[in-house]
Amino acid sequence: MPTLAFELSEEVDRYVAGQIATLIREKKGAGQNAVLGLATGSTPIGVYRELIRLHEEEGLDFTNVLTFNLDEYWPMEPDSIHSYNRFMWENLFHHINIPKENVHIPDGTVPLAKVEAWCDDYERKIQEAGGLDIQLLGIGRTGHIGFNEPGSSRNSTTRLVALDPKTRKDAAGEFYGEENVPMQAVTMGVNTIMNARQIIMLALGEHKSKITRIAVEDEVTDQVPSTFLQKHPNSMFVIDSAAASQLT
Ligand code: F6R
Repeated sequence: MPTLAFELSEEVDRYVAGQIATLIREKKGAGQNAVLGLATGSTPIGVYRELIRLHEEEGLDFTNVLTFNLDEYWPMEPDSIHSYNRFMWENLFHHINIPKENVHIPDGTVPLAKVEAWCDDYERKIQEAGGLDIQLLGIGRTGHIGFNEPGSSRNSTTRLVALDPKTRKDAAGEFYGEENVPMQAVTMGVNTIMNARQIIMLALGEHKSKITRIAVEDEVTDQVPSTFLQKHPNSMFVIDSAAASQLT
C-alpha cells in the first residue's frame, strides 16, 4: 500500500488538510458537494486544526461540504464529554462554516430496537450524497478502522459492534477507568469505508509503529481489519517518521 512518511506530524497535518482543501475547492468549482468521511481520536486533531486555519486565514469555504463520521460509542449522549459528536463540534465544526444539516454523526442515543434501521438509514444517506470522496482514518492498536475490530467482515456495513478489550483499555484514561468505557459502538462497516473513492489512513507516533507495519506489510486478514486497505485502489498511509520506524 502506498505510504507517505513525513519527518514531523505537522507536515502530515498540512499535507492531508491540503488534500482535503483541494477536493473541496475542485468540487465547488464544478458546482458539486465534497463528501468527507471523518474520524475522531487524537490522530486527526492536527488536520482539523489546519482546516480551521485554512478557513480563517485563506477563506476555505465549507458550505459545499457534507460529512459522515465513522463512529460513536453506544450508548452515548451527544453532549457528554466522551461523545464523538461533541468532539467533532469542538475540534472542527464550530470553527468552520459548514451548514449544520450537512453534518452526519452516528447517534449514540438510538434505542436498541431501532439501531439496525438507523444504521441502514446512515448507509442510505451516504449513498444519496453520492458516496464518500475521501475517508480519513486513524488506526487502533487492534488494527481496527472505525470500530471494526478483529473479526469484522470485509462486507460489513454500519452496525452496532462490541469493542475489543484492547480498545476499551486504550480509552480507559479518557473515561477515568476501563469499567466506564462503553462495551459497544455504532460504526461504519469495512465495506462502507472501502466504498470511499479515496482513503487516507493517518498514523502518528512511535506507539503506532508496530500496527502500521502490520497493516502495510502483513497479509490481508479480517483479524487486522486495516489490512483490507491494501486491496483498495486509492488508499494511502500518511504517517510521521516515528510511526514509520518499523517499516521494512
Ligand atoms: C475514531 C476511530 C478510531 C480511531 C483509532 C485511533 O473515530 O474510528 O478507529 O481512529 O482508535 O485513535 P487515536 O487517534 O486516538 O489513536
